Amino acid sequence: MTEAILLVGGKGTRLRPLTVHTPKPMVPAAGVPFLTHQLARARAAGVEHVVLATSYLAEVFEPYFGDGAALGLRLEYVTEVEPLGTGGAIRNVAERLDSGPDEPVLIFNGDILTGLDIRALVAEHRSAGADVSLHLTRVQDPRAFGLVPTDGTGRVTAFLEKPQTPEEIVTDQINAGAYVFRRSVIDAIPAGRPVSVERETFPGLLADGAHLQGMVDSTYWLDLGTPQAFIRGSADLVLGLAPSPAVPGRCGEALVLPSAEVAPGAKLTGGTVIGAGAVIGEGATVDGSTVLDDAVVGPGAVVTDSMVGRAARVGARTVLRGAVVGDGARVGADNELHEGARIWCGASLPDAAIRFSSDA
Ligand code: GTP
Repeated sequence: MTEAILLVGGKGTRLRPLTVHTPKPMVPAAGVPFLTHQLARARAAGVEHVVLATSYLAEVFEPYFGDGAALGLRLEYVTEVEPLGTGGAIRNVAERLDSGPDEPVLIFNGDILTGLDIRALVAEHRSAGADVSLHLTRVQDPRAFGLVPTDGTGRVTAFLEKPQTPEEIVTDQINAGAYVFRRSVIDAIPAGRPVSVERETFPGLLADGAHLQGMVDSTYWLDLGTPQAFIRGSADLVLGLAPSPAVPGRCGEALVLPSAEVAPGAKLTGGTVIGAGAVIGEGATVDGSTVLDDAVVGPGAVVTDSMVGRAARVGARTVLRGAVVGDGARVGADNELHEGARIWCGASLPDAAIRFSSDA
């Protein structure tokens, strides 16, 4: 097994404003573009050739990763003029694959952080003689996901859209976004039109009697589709809770990239990342958060479970909890932004514009 396709062309709408200038797989997690972790994990599992299926902001991938030699990989890039969806994107890169018709090809969503045993998924695929094998994970509340029940041998019995009633929750197994396809199955996806692998390809294969195998692997798994999940994933990488060979430094409470300036009295905890050239002021507390390159966090600010975008500024004594400040945005001093607050790229918030007070 030497080949993989990485789906990295989505618009990442749920992650805005982080994805306004940067496609989701290129948003930094633990100090490097998130995709670096996926590529490094694929390499560690024996993958040598990766085709990146790009679309949204496609031009930024190749200048950063080049031919992949720095990661020990051979990388190729294929760009869709119009987004083709997950299945269409897989079909669109087929001609770049070297694998023979019966050989396994790995396919990864470009926004999943997981400790999946990739070699075990391929081994299961081979021993089951499957057409497609899926990584399944178990979640406590499956209502937001497509369910994938399996029989006693792990063979997929159905693909069920998001369940609406308790009776419809027939399993806690969900599609975790990593697959092994028999090469010939990729070639059989219709070319030149949008196709959803989840909604069209998988149910269609099942209806046609194909063998779809599910492998439950319940190690670390997080879909980084939302800002809160992305911030959590980055912190878990820094803390060593999520596995990656690509974290640039030792795991611990914080990762401070070279050329960042952290005042001696500042406190960094909970898997915080301080990007290159960023400045953290005296007495500031940054917990479980990501401060991107060249951003400034003022003295006495308290930043918790938040993301401060590239070259953004957070004023003195401002409190961010579960907030996102877009690239180049300015939040004045003495503000309080709570869960879900998103300041758009380049926007400006004056001093003391938003406060929460118990006697207000
Ligand atoms: P949202 O807009 O927030 O839902 O994010 P998204 O656009 O990334 O969509 P989603 O999370 O469903 O995508 C799952 C994976 O497939 C991600 O890695 C996307 O980059 C990728 N993807 C989704 N649509 C396309 C597409 O049309 N083309 C390509 N090449 N990749 C896609």
